[in-house]
Amino acid sequence: MDKLKILGVGGSLRKGSFSKGLLLEVKKLAPENVDFEIWEDYNFPPYNPDTEIPENVKELKNKIKNADAILFSLPEYNYSVPGFIKNAIDWASRPYGDNSWEDKPAAIMSESIGNTAGSKAQYHLRQVLVCLNVHALNKPEFMVPNATDKFDKEGNLIDEEARGKIKPLIEALVAWTNKLK
Ligand SMILES: Cc1cc2nc3c(=O)[nH]c(=O)nc-3n(C[C@H](O)[C@H](O)[C@H](O)COP(=O)(O)O)c2cc1C
Repeated sequence: MDKLKILGVGGSLRKGSFSKGLLLEVKKLAPENVDFEIWEDYNFPPYNPDTEIPENVKELKNKIKNADAILFSLPEYNYSVPGFIKNAIDWASRPYGDNSWEDKPAAIMSESIGNTAGSKAQYHLRQVLVCLNVHALNKPEFMVPNATDKFDKEGNLIDEEARGKIKPLIEALVAWTNKLK
């Protein structure tokens, strides 16, 4: 049977990013039947409909189209989605009529150094995903609070409780994706 392709989107641009650390952990823990790839290049100009679509945006659009599902991982910036992730989302949703996110199943992970774990960013992202017709998995929710205690300085997840929640999330995303096929 073909492997299920899941594309990891997000993390932060910061060296030692915790949200990127979550994606790297998924890479280690993904089951055999999952081909997990992390999108790394967020070096896009601010979205402008007058700008010709950059090559790296075309590449992202192709990766999304070829993926069976998307896994977002994000920190919270000012109660919302970090601008660079929103910018990437906007780019890949255009040109009008060619929304690469259309009909994709997705799951979301968030973390924050505070005790609300990036939940507000996660719910803002869910709202955006409604517009894009992305089918976001509702449960299990995956949020890591107090991230400074859960990751080392290089951004590696060192918390067993959080690590234990990764596999169930991936399994739920795989089941959700198969259900929607
Ligand atoms: C511009 C900015 C705004 C932030 N706003 C929030 C916020 O609203 N709520 C919150 O819990 N954390 C906030 N934080 C803290 C980040 O969510 C936290 O540092 C997170 O762990 C960073 O993730 P990263 O390690 O992937 O970069 C903010 C950080 C920055 C840089």
